[in-house]
Parts: sequence; C-alpha cells; structure tokens
Amino acid sequence: MEANLPKRKEPSKSLRIKVISMGNAEVGKSCIIKRYCEKRFVSKYLATIGIDYGVTKVQVRDREIKVNIFDMAGHPFFYEVRNEFYKDTQGVILVYDVGQKESFDALDMWLAEMKQELGPHGNVDNIVFVVCANKIDCAKHRCVDESEGRLWAESRGFLYFETSAQTGEGINEMFQAFYVSIVDLCENGGKRPAANSTSFTKEQADTIRRIRNSKDSWDMLGVKPGASREEVNKAYRKLAVLLHPDKCVAPGSEDAFKAVVNARTALLKSIK
Ligand code: GTP
Ligand code: MG
Repeated sequence: MEANLPKRKEPSKSLRIKVISMGNAEVGKSCIIKRYCEKRFVSKYLATIGIDYGVTKVQVRDREIKVNIFDMAGHPFFYEVRNEFYKDTQGVILVYDVGQKESFDALDMWLAEMKQELGPHGNVDNIVFVVCANKIDCAKHRCVDESEGRLWAESRGFLYFETSAQTGEGINEMFQAFYVSIVDLCENGGKRPAANSTSFTKEQADTIRRIRNSKDSWDMLGVKPGASREEVNKAYRKLAVLLHPDKCVAPGSEDAFKAVVNARTALLKSIK
C-alpha cells in the first residue's frame, strides 16, 4: 500500500556560508565580486577601506545557499582590520593580476597571513580555495603565464580560473565551480573529496618551479658550474624521469622538460 502514496518532495536544504577575498591591493577582488553580483564593471579604482560586506543567494543542486561575502582590502595598511575576518570561512577567492608578478609572488604571503590568524588549531584543509588569475584581457602586459599560475594552485589542491572582471570572462564559471566545491565539502563532512587530490607530486611541482627560476643551464640541471659530462648526464636522467611528459601531468612539465633537454645539449657542447 505504501508504494501508492505520493512521494513527499524533500524540502530543499539551505546552507549558510562565509567566503572572503584575498590578494594584493588593486588586483581586482572587488571588481570580480561586482561583476558576478551586479553584472557590471567599474574602471575607476576605488580602494576597499578595511572590509566590504555583502550577501547573495545561489542555488547549487537542491540547496539554496546564502553566501556572506567579505571583500578584504589588499593594502598592508588594513592588516589590523582584516585579521579578525579569517575565522569560520568556508571559501577563499585568492586573486592576483597576471600583469603584476609581485601580486602572484604574494600569494604565499596571503596564505601565511591567513594561517597565522587562524592559529595552531585552525585548519585550512577544510576550506575551498579558488585562485583567480585576473585581468587576462590585458594580454600585452601579461607576465605570469597560465601554467605557472595553475601549477601554484593545483599543487596545493586549489581550484584555478583565468578571469577578467572587465569582460566577464571566466567569472560565472569560477563562482559556479567554487560554490559547488564548497557544497561538496560541506556534504562530505568538511573534508576535501578524494577526487580533489592532485595527480602530480610535490617534488614534480617544486622541480618545475625551480627550473623556471634557474639562472643558467648549470643551475637548471642542479650541477655546479664546470661539472663533468657524467655529472651533467646523471642530473639530466634524474630530471627526465621526473618530468617526462608521458609520466608527468603537472602544468608546465612539457616546457620544463624541453628546457632541461636544451640545457643538457648546451652544456655537453661546452664541456671539452
Ligand atoms: P583593494 O580593494 O585595494 O584591495 O583592490 P581590489 O583588489 O579590490 O581591486 P579593484 O577591484 O578595486 O580593482 C583595481 C583596479 O583594477 C580598478 O581600476 C579596476 O577597474 C581594475 N580591474 C579590475 N579587474 C580588472 C580586469 O579584469 N581587467 C582590467 N583591465 N582591469 C581590471
Ligand atoms: Mg577592493
């Protein structure tokens, strides 16, 4: 008999979340949020003073999500104001400007500031981070390429999106993926789902970064200037095993592998 009863529709489960924006001053945090919430772009720079707060509602699957957005000021002057807002956060929008290397290099500092404010018992593993490589419309001034940004983000288990608050490119996709990940995390008891784990090792990510920043071919292969052919070949083989495109899927591995091949060729030519 029970089978004939009309199925009662499950009431949709509502959820309240807190998200914050982080990143250097002028990278476009407020504009990204404005583009998503108000569908507009303001080209005049109006620095956020301390914190801006807003509320928005979004639907993810059967859940209505009430999102409290705390848009932080990036200027160091506002550190005292910012530091109270890190706790009880489910999601972080971490922004840099692709035309400003310092804003990319500062991402580690932003993570460190957050960790410091959360204290020794604070846990960032149950927070969803999305990295926005912003201002991609300014292609001429770009100095941080996609693979470098993606590598930084994905090696930490963070989402990565290329965005432009000016044209709107990537903004809706970024927020959609961000909210879905937060809901997944909440439904998974506050733990990142296994599928989020990265498919390359920290050693591979660190090596690619080291290769990018190396000052010459010796440095790239990790041998002393004046090393022998055998030492060069040994170092090359080790890197080739680690970074070969058939074995390594880390962003930028193909370029790093090519650079290592070229460095070895150049060194072998120069060694008598
Ligand atoms: P603070 O509040 O000081 O931390 O800065 P913010 O990160 O919130 O920067 P904001 O959003 O105010 O943008 C800074 C400047 O960059 C403004 O002049 C924006 O118009 C400009 N801007 C933001 N996003 C983009 C973008 O995607 N492309 C371009 N071309 N300009 C952008
Ligand atoms: Mg701002």
